[in-house]
Amino acid sequence: MASVGNSIEQATNWLREGYPVAIPTETVYGLAANACREDALIRVFEAKKRPLFDPLIVHLPTVSSILPYAKDIPRLAFDLWERYSPGPLTLVLPKSEKLPDLLSSGLPTAGFRIPDHPVALQVLNAIDFPLAAPSANLFGRVSPTTAAHVLDQLGDHIPYILDGGPCNVGLESTIIDLSGPEPILRREGGIPSQSIEEEFKITLERPVHAFRLHDGFVPSAGTLDNHYAPKVPLICYHNNEELTNIVSRLSSMQPDPNNRTVGKPPTREPTLGMLRFQSDIPDYFRDLCDENKLGDLRNVEILSPSGDLKEAARNLFAAMRSLEEGCDLILAEQAPEHGLGLAINDRLRRASVKGAPH
Ligand code: TXA
Ligand code: MG
Repeated sequence: MASVGNSIEQATNWLREGYPVAIPTETVYGLAANACREDALIRVFEAKKRPLFDPLIVHLPTVSSILPYAKDIPRLAFDLWERYSPGPLTLVLPKSEKLPDLLSSGLPTAGFRIPDHPVALQVLNAIDFPLAAPSANLFGRVSPTTAAHVLDQLGDHIPYILDGGPCNVGLESTIIDLSGPEPILRREGGIPSQSIEEEFKITLERPVHAFRLHDGFVPSAGTLDNHYAPKVPLICYHNNEELTNIVSRLSSMQPDPNNRTVGKPPTREPTLGMLRFQSDIPDYFRDLCDENKLGDLRNVEILSPSGDLKEAARNLFAAMRSLEEGCDLILAEQAPEHGLGLAINDRLRRASVKGAPH
């Protein structure tokens, strides 16, 4: 079982020996390991049960420390770093031969990020190698924003969790791919892509799916549909009207208690988990659930009572985790479609895809 503590020395000792350690960043907790050692990287893929075709991103403390590991860095990269680093921005660039192909799943590029967290920077400054760090959750599941979340999913598979308190941003970094002729948005994240476009007067390409690698398609930056999945099904909706429609559909799917199939366990009312953006669920909706025997509605998580997108982003993953523990089904209200709301809705949409690994 992992120890949880705040010793930079213990963390760096494990890292130097080639073992993965969970570290806090401003976005989510990362499962960090020496990015230049294949044995250490394998341990990260194994602990997360992550397929080898999903590349890892590299963390370094400064722009100058990135230079030996990247090649052909365009002017725009330096401009973006100057504006947003340290911070929740990952830039995909051609990688140098110092980084193993295992890290990038065979791609000629790698993602680079300078995290804005004092503990992560202390760790990075204490070692002389870059850290590969995917989010410290089991593959496909909800990302961790506290040390306890990491312990819950990876505690049995890693030696040490460095506790830096809850993450301030709460959503993963925005990923921009600068390795081709046009900048491409690979993942919405902690810095709204619209702000970047407005400030730098650029247009980011937004591919619907996957990118080309030697004539084949490989999944990229959060384009795997079944990411961020809670343990129970999640259905998204935009407004109270849509919510009412969903409930009507659910009630028509309720099993008839008088006509039970022999041998099946007795049915019971499902427990609904309600993820709300700003307001509590309306009273008429509680009545509707009562009438339709749709279980009790004790589990309501409101992301930001004041409607603040930053606060909502910070609370999103913890709220999803809390609801997945007590409920059979989560009904999740989407955030407004702008700024950080785009990243929040992206995570909710992926969480709602059927067939997610559990
Ligand atoms: O905020 C974050 O970015 C967190 C913290 C720990 O830094 N890390 C994180 O890593 O979210 P991960 O592995 O969970 O997500 C990184 C995404 C993956 O979806 C991966 O497919 C994509 O980045 N990625 C990595 N290298 C890439 C590359 N060379 N080209 C395109 N996508 C890449
Ligand atoms: Mg992840």
